[in-house]
Amino acid sequence: MRKPFLAANWKMNKTVAETRAFIDEFIPLVKAANDADIVLAPPFISLHTASGMLKGTNIKLAAQNAFYEDKGAYTGETAPGMITDAGCEYVILGHSERRQYFGETDEILNKKVHAALRHNLKVIFCIGESLEERESGKTFEVLKRELDNGLKDIPCDKLVVAYEPIWAIGTGKTATPEQAQETHKYIREQLASLYSEKAQEIRILYGGSVTPENIDALMACPDVDGGLVGGASMKADSFSKIVNFKRV
Ligand code: 13P
Repeated sequence: MRKPFLAANWKMNKTVAETRAFIDEFIPLVKAANDADIVLAPPFISLHTASGMLKGTNIKLAAQNAFYEDKGAYTGETAPGMITDAGCEYVILGHSERRQYFGETDEILNKKVHAALRHNLKVIFCIGESLEERESGKTFEVLKRELDNGLKDIPCDKLVVAYEPIWAIGTGKTATPEQAQETHKYIREQLASLYSEKAQEIRILYGGSVTPENIDALMACPDVDGGLVGGASMKADSFSKIVNFKRV
């Protein structure tokens, strides 16, 4: 059985004070939550504060990005070892916003995944197609390329995959449960071609306009193992409802 995995990606939102206020409110709301992995990914500047507050709770911490070098003259970058040191168990890599606005290619991401694993981080690896790619029937081709290239020579024991269709991110346009299931099933087949029977153990998250209203139906899909949530994770009340989804 794959344990549900619910992660909040705050992107470039929330100051340290706002992070602190969220966590204070959030901890009691998820204390008796489903047996699930609950993960917060605040901006880098809040990781240290968040890590201190989350010690001894059932909530884990993730960074939103990491560089592939261990140290050196890379102004503005953050090394994976620093992220481990800051108290993170996870790092999000390959988010479509990183690919789109910061030019992160499959090859760069593969180097980042290798580096993260070297520093003992677990990786939430994001893939997803654009609207144009979906409408021209290229969804599976895009996902296969992103998986094959991004996960080249990567073992799967510390891997979580997040399927985030770009057309569903921040648009209020969620994939239907049928679309999500069809795509997740395809992703699991591709993971099986890379990792054989171990693919059954890999969590595949759905991301893109997840809300407290649609999480139950998404989680009811056999190959949807969790959510990577942006907008609806910004309020403690709303994200706690997602974490406390109902098993239907
Ligand atoms: P939204 O939930 O705001 O659509 O964002 C999804 C996302 O990009 C999470 O990484």
